[in-house]
Amino acid sequence: MSTTPHIVILVASTRAARFADYPLNWVVAKTAKRTDFTFEVVDLRDHQLPFYDRAGSPAMTPREYATEAERVLGEKLDAADGFLVIANEYNHGYTAALKNTLDSYFAEWNRKPISFLGYGNAGGARAIEQLRQVVDELDMASVRPTVNLLGNYVMGIRGGGDPDEVLEPLAPRLDALLEDLHWWATALKIARAADKEETDASDEQA
Ligand SMILES: Cc1cc2nc3c(=O)[nH]c(=O)nc-3n(C[C@H](O)[C@H](O)[C@H](O)COP(=O)(O)O)c2cc1C
Repeated sequence: MSTTPHIVILVASTRAARFADYPLNWVVAKTAKRTDFTFEVVDLRDHQLPFYDRAGSPAMTPREYATEAERVLGEKLDAADGFLVIANEYNHGYTAALKNTLDSYFAEWNRKPISFLGYGNAGGARAIEQLRQVVDELDMASVRPTVNLLGNYVMGIRGGGDPDEVLEPLAPRLDALLEDLHWWATALKIARAADKEETDASDEQA
C-alpha cells in the first residue's frame, strides 16, 4: 500500500463571482511543489447536490448513492485520505452548499483529517470553528493549524494587488497546515488499512 496521502481540496463557495479562486489558485500552485502528497480539487460549484432528501441517514446506508451526481462526488471523497477546505464565511457561518455536502455522506469522511483555509473579515475563523463542531460528528480529525486570509489580505487582492505577492506572508502558515495534515493523513491511512485487513480476515473466517 502506498502511504502517500491523497488530499481533496474542497472549494465551498459556489457563486459565479466568488473570491475563492484567488486562495484556491495560490494553494494549487503551492501544493503542486509537494511530492509527498497527491492533490485533487473538488469544486462544489461543479458538484451541486439537491438539499438532502434521502429516506435514511448516510450513516445507516453507507455508499448507497441515490443519484449519479451523488455517486460521482461520493467516490471522489471516498478516495481521499484527507481534506483541505477553502472556506468562505457568510453571516459568521459556512456555506449551505458545504453543509449539504457534509450531511450527504458519512463513511466517505470517517477517520480522515480535515484542514481549513478561511477568508473574510476575520479570516473565516468563525466559519472554521463551526465546521470543527460538525466534523467531530463525522468522526474526522480537524487539523490545528489554519490559514486565515483576514480582511487586509482580501482587500489587498480586491484592490488590485498580485495575489501571489499579497498571500506570500501566509506561506509559512500553509506549510504548517500541510505538515500537520500530512501527519494525520498518513497515520489514519495506515490505521484505516489495518482495520480493513482485520475486517477482511474475520469475514474470511466467518
Ligand atoms: C450573504 C453574505 C454574508 C456575508 N457575511 C460575512 C461574514 O459574516 N463575515 C465575513 O467575514 N464576511 C462576510 N461576507 C463577505 C464574504 O466573506 C465575502 O463576500 C467573500 O468573498 C465570500 O466568499 P466568495 O466570494 O468566495 O463567495 C458575507 C458575504 C455575503 C454575500
